[in-house]
Amino acid sequence: MVRLPYLTALTTLFSYGLLFAFGQLRDFFRRILDARKPSNLKVRCPCLSPAWDLRICLACRSVSRRSLLLISSQGYAPICLGLEDFYTRRLYLRIQDCFGRPIASAPDAWFDVVERYSNDSNKTLHRTSKTSKCLNLGSYNYLGFAAADEYCTPRVIESLKKYSASTCSVRVDGGNTKLHIELEELVAKFVGKPAAILFGMGYVTNSAIIPAVIGKGGLIISDSLNHNSIVNGARGSGATVRVFQHNNPAHLEDVLREQIAGGQPRTHRPWKKIIVIVEGIYSMEGELCKLPEIISVCKKYKEIIHHLKRTCPAHIYATSMSPPAVQQVISAIKEPRNLLKFERTAIFSVQSFKKWGFEVLGDNDSPVMPIMLYNPAKIPAFSRECLRQNVAVVTVAFPATPLLLARARICISASHSREDLIKGLEVISKVGDLVGIKYFPVEQEKTTDVKKLKKIE
Ligand SMILES: *[C@@H]1O[C@H](CO)[C@@H](O)[C@H](O)[C@H]1NC(C)=O
Ligand SMILES: *[C@@H]1O[C@H](CO)[C@@H](O)[C@H](O)[C@H]1NC(C)=O
Repeated sequence: MVRLPYLTALTTLFSYGLLFAFGQLRDFFRRILDARKPSNLKVRCPCLSPAWDLRICLACRSVSRRSLLLISSQGYAPICLGLEDFYTRRLYLRIQDCFGRPIASAPDAWFDVVERYSNDSNKTLHRTSKTSKCLNLGSYNYLGFAAADEYCTPRVIESLKKYSASTCSVRVDGGNTKLHIELEELVAKFVGKPAAILFGMGYVTNSAIIPAVIGKGGLIISDSLNHNSIVNGARGSGATVRVFQHNNPAHLEDVLREQIAGGQPRTHRPWKKIIVIVEGIYSMEGELCKLPEIISVCKKYKEIIHHLKRTCPAHIYATSMSPPAVQQVISAIKEPRNLLKFERTAIFSVQSFKKWGFEVLGDNDSPVMPIMLYNPAKIPAFSRECLRQNVAVVTVAFPATPLLLARARICISASHSREDLIKGLEVISKVGDLVGIKYFPVEQEKTTDVKKLKKIE
């Protein structure tokens, strides 16, 4: 899948090694300097009595030195320790200006990015009241419904007046409005299924549904690159989890056959239930699920919505979705919008990046395009340089990706015009040259693509 060139892997490893070594060196000197100051980490007896000398707790008489607590000067245990703490201080904080950039407008094709400054090498960042207008290549706004538009917005405002911003209750009590029911029916019809159930949040949908449909004695077969919400849902369910190679129906079939033949571990009784879990589109890879192939491997489905409405905690205990949000979705589904244009622009982008020699993952018609950066120094370089040229991109690094596979994730939206995309491509190509992330030779006859496209316009 990822064609990581040997030399790049080597230099990337070397860079991380260097960062690690210098971080350790700095920590070493910091410890020497700090040794003179009174430490802000103290050792305490677990009984938390302040009356503790080095060998015995005067309050609880404990002499055990095994279960000592580390306590900071404010009286709390430190939140992270060891490697995690080291990674945060010495690697993440140095480039944290590239992550979590605040924005000050709707995530439309263009949006306002809040400018920040730092007086301590980006360890702490301060917001200013200034913003800069940037091309938005970072939001998951595939269909372009994120900003105000003349079809959806008036309807949403109407529903806000009628139903208020929240129902302040769960669906099974007083939180069920006409809108919620309408949307469920609409979604079911849209995807061609008998019923649908609404959740206000994607993460909860996965992490709460999975434990509600499967438990101990069940088997979950999960794609190796499934989202964290699925991983946590699968763990929380108590079912056994097996993983199949990403988007590989043949391997799924092998795993399925093996598990059906073997049954549960030790007892070898048949599994009570087997569920295969995949995603529609993998957001870090930009790959669409091979659904038809996978379905033909599994080929058995059951009606479960009714069961979820009685058992799923996210349905029974969580406040129902905000009515204006429901109305926004209803309007978005009902609005006649030309999705064809969207597909065309998506194809246009993935191909262009590949022609320029970038290593791009993802399917051709995917709206998410991960451009591989690999090297840790290229993460901030790419992100900052794009921002300087008014293009906002999202960069993703460890732990969200494997250590060597840092990437920039470009998301385009139906609200981008052709000019927007051409500007985006131009800037990314220029910055790509500057930062050195065109890992493959440029296809010669295609280098004048942007000029050609402009002429066509
Ligand atoms: C931080 O730096 C800015 C310029 O970048 C300066 O205007 C400001 O006074 C500095 N603040 C402090 C507290 O040093
Ligand atoms: C801090 O971030 C800015 C961009 O936001 C960058 O230009 C600068 O080089 C960074 N400083 C350090 C010390 O990394």
